[in-house]
Amino acid sequence: MSYSPSSPIKCHSPRVTVIGAGKVGSTLAQRIAEKNLADVVLLDIVEGMPRGLALDLMEARGIEQHNRRITGTTNYAETSGSNVVVITAGFPRKPGMTRDDLLLTNAKIVVEAAKKAMTYSPDAVYIVVTNPLDVMTYLVWQAIGLPRNRIMGMAGVLDSARFESFIAMELGVCPLDVKAMVLGSHGDLMVPLPRYATVNGIPITELLTTATIERLVERTRNGGAEIVELMQTGGAFYTPASSTYVMVESILRNQSRLLPIAAYLQGEYGLNDIFIGVPCRLGYSGIEEVVELKLTDAERNALHTSAQEVRKNIARSQEVFAAVSR
Ligand code: NAI
Ligand code: 2OP
Repeated sequence: MSYSPSSPIKCHSPRVTVIGAGKVGSTLAQRIAEKNLADVVLLDIVEGMPRGLALDLMEARGIEQHNRRITGTTNYAETSGSNVVVITAGFPRKPGMTRDDLLLTNAKIVVEAAKKAMTYSPDAVYIVVTNPLDVMTYLVWQAIGLPRNRIMGMAGVLDSARFESFIAMELGVCPLDVKAMVLGSHGDLMVPLPRYATVNGIPITELLTTATIERLVERTRNGGAEIVELMQTGGAFYTPASSTYVMVESILRNQSRLLPIAAYLQGEYGLNDIFIGVPCRLGYSGIEEVVELKLTDAERNALHTSAQEVRKNIARSQEVFAAVSR
């Protein structure tokens, strides 16, 4: 068959919009493009900056060996028809701040961003990254009213990656061999599950003392703050971007990976009308299943305590939600 320039081959590349072209957003855009997963639209409120980042990423394409298109913009019309929308817009923590200090400022930002994105990408799967994560995800869900399979928050993949990393460092083993899961809210009350953590199938309870496991659990709970204290100028972004990438990839490649995701619960784990981290199967349609693990009484109580804290903050955020929705 001869090549005809007048009938170009149409190639439909998946499209991911990343709202917020800061540290997490721009690193995520880089991962998505350089791993050849999808075209990326980077959107920010700061004029010029997302275009500059996009151009910089485009200029590396020959060296990084991919042909993905990265666009930078301040205009939501350019995000039109995205398959996945990731919201990272908002402020990160400063030293001494908790994630919840960010609540009221970021609530306004994410609600407005989600509504605008929804106008142009009504069929997308939405992933929220902005903190405080579980509350921001709830607000986005309230704002755009998507079915629960298409709206979720990223935090559990990051918290689990940290727990896995600390286990690998402690045992001196390859991180590829360590698997762990952290449930609950993204905060001090997250729920790492040592019972379900393994090194190539061997439970860590066989390899580490109770005191050591408790120390690693505490370090995981404090994982975000540890980096903020060291950096002084913002929070972690490499692992958060990698963790979000894993979710976007599982959706676009329909991998059905089982990942801890902040999902809307309707009775699972005895919880209702809340977003909180639980194991989910993630594929092309978004969340395909919320998987209910058998938890001990202590684990279930910890999950419920974590949920109470999220509920308190959802209640605090409702005034801002009402004001933005007017
Ligand atoms: P950053 O400050 O580097 O970037 C935030 C970007 O959002 C900035 O470029 C800013 O201009 C933009 N922005 C602000 N208002 C906007 C609006 N109305 N529309 C569009 N863009 C807007 O912050 P970074 O480090 O990228 O973190 C972003 C958020 O993600 C923070 O809330 C942070 O706490 C959170 N985070 C959450 C994690 C998680 O596990 N869920 C992990 C890491 C960060
Ligand atoms: C983290 O855990 C700041 O939530 C962010 O690194």
